[in-house]
Amino acid sequence: MKVLFLNGPNLNLLGTREPEIYGRTTLADISSQVRDRAAQLKVAVEFRQSNQEGELVSWIQEAKGNFDVIVINAAAYTHTSVALRDAISATGVPAIEIHLSNIHAREDFRHKSLIAPVCRGQICGFGAKSYILGLEASVYVK
Ligand code: DQA
Repeated sequence: MKVLFLNGPNLNLLGTREPEIYGRTTLADISSQVRDRAAQLKVAVEFRQSNQEGELVSWIQEAKGNFDVIVINAAAYTHTSVALRDAISATGVPAIEIHLSNIHAREDFRHKSLIAPVCRGQICGFGAKSYILGLEASVYVK
């Protein structure tokens, strides 16, 4: 089983970016925690980050036939991107939406996720552990 982790804009800044909201764990640390858990679960993972919406769209399209599940933290594009939503819908690869913070407990504009209706489920509010929970959930949706 192969799981593709996709990370959207500004997540490359984790560790120093608003640590009171997102914590001090870097994306590289999260990637390594995910790899450790994936090895226990005997799941292959690939971990990518982009600040470009179009690059994320291309990666979602290319996942078809190459990955069993997509776990996606679309970051700010969660709330704005019809293109990401359409890509997830078009490929048909099961997707799990994750966030570090609880988007429903924050500003109103973060309460709406455009990708949620085309994802199998949403995990948010558990900090870096949201990634581990996303990986574990991917074993169930496959
Ligand atoms: C985020 C929440 C989004 O609202 C925000 O734009 C992010 C990070 C999270 O992981 O909590 O960049 O996706």
